Amino acid sequence: MLNRPQQLNALSEELMAELVSELQRLDRDHAIRCIVLGGSERAFAAGADIGELARSSAIELYYARRVERWDAIRNLWTPLVAAVSGYCLGGGCELALSCDLIIASETARFGQPETSLGIIPGAGGTQRLTRAVGKATAMDVILSGRLLSAEEALDAGLVSRVVAREAWRVARDIALKGPVATRLAKEAVDRAYESTLQLGLEYERRALYLAFASEDAKEGLTAFTEKRKPDFKGH
Ligand code: COA
Repeated sequence: MLNRPQQLNALSEELMAELVSELQRLDRDHAIRCIVLGGSERAFAAGADIGELARSSAIELYYARRVERWDAIRNLWTPLVAAVSGYCLGGGCELALSCDLIIASETARFGQPETSLGIIPGAGGTQRLTRAVGKATAMDVILSGRLLSAEEALDAGLVSRVVAREAWRVARDIALKGPVATRLAKEAVDRAYESTLQLGLEYERRALYLAFASEDAKEGLTAFTEKRKPDFKGH
């Protein structure tokens, strides 16, 4: 849980460093099969820490190697679910977009208000939001500063479900599946999002054979024929 309530979970350097190291720690633990990232009822995160940005020079920001932190989040193996309530703005929206899926409660409000500060999104907002919701909505949100309600975000394809506290149920469902297959499936979906159809199809085919070679696949297929629940070990 992001927990910097006084600043509506604004993503300070300190918060981001802690978040990434904690996510990487959880990711290394193979017993953990899904991670849920949430904020408070009032805000998932209200963006980059504006006070910090106002005090920094461009070169200081460049040297802080912020990009590497965002890449580290994208490179996590374990499925990562964003549980979003309240404000999900700027870097907060980019953080949610960096997760594998977003579950929103009805109070969620998504936006990229950077241009009102004279800057632009810098952690993938112009790219990931556009791929998620299309050019028309992305242009509107990024240029006019319009906030999307949870329902609008659902219709636009930014979030997967709008139900309070549903993220935990989704995480449990994910955690019950074959862990090897889940990782491979997540990587394959990312290929659809990040590369061409042909490359994505080739990746999917290879990933299927790899999944097929896992002990999890043997267990899952056998359990079905024996009419019992599978006991996946993640091998
Ligand atoms: N960075 C640093 N502090 C932030 C912040 C941010 N991105 N967003 C909110 N805060 C702080 C406010 O300064 C305020 O602190 P204070 O109590 O010491 O004055 C506190 O969080 C509560 O925010 P406040 O603006 O009083 O709440 P609100 O309910 O009236 O408005 C928002 C909520 C989210 C609409 C408003 O805070 C806002 O517009 N935040 C900036 C969003 C933004 O532009 N994000 C992109 C950053 S690149």
